Amino acid sequence: MVRRIIPLLIAMVYAPGAWAQKLESSPGRRIAERDCVSCHAVKPGEVGPSPVQAAPPFQLVARMPSTTELALRVFLRTSHADMPNLQFTEQETDDLVAYIVSLSPPGK
Ligand code: HEC
Repeated sequence: MVRRIIPLLIAMVYAPGAWAQKLESSPGRRIAERDCVSCHAVKPGEVGPSPVQAAPPFQLVARMPSTTELALRVFLRTSHADMPNLQFTEQETDDLVAYIVSLSPPGK
């Protein structure tokens, strides 16, 4: 019994760290830290408050049931709030969307 529980506990302690570390180097995160961080909390695990209170932390955006890759793509094509109308290349859009979606741990 104990032999089964201990590896599970170890996995629970270390897995989130590995998950956050993988995100550390994602290209989408770099874009978020350049273009979105003035209003949003963008880092893994950051649940707010965002620099602009009305702007939801990306961690929470990722957890919302309504957040899908498609919804994010559509959203990023329009300007929102007072966000300057940023133009992203296809690659940048892919990276950003992948980053935001990845903030939600598996099985959201
Ligand atoms: C000037 C401030 C500002 C900047 C810069 C900004 N945002 Fe926002 N964002 C907001 C505010 C305020 C809201 C909430 C109100 C709204 O949806 O318009 C929001 C909402 C959102 C939502 C919607 C969440 C939902 O409710 O579905 C997403 C996704 C988002 N922002 C992504 C981004 C991304 C990605 C960037 C960077 C490329 C970015 N934002 C840059 C202010 C900003």
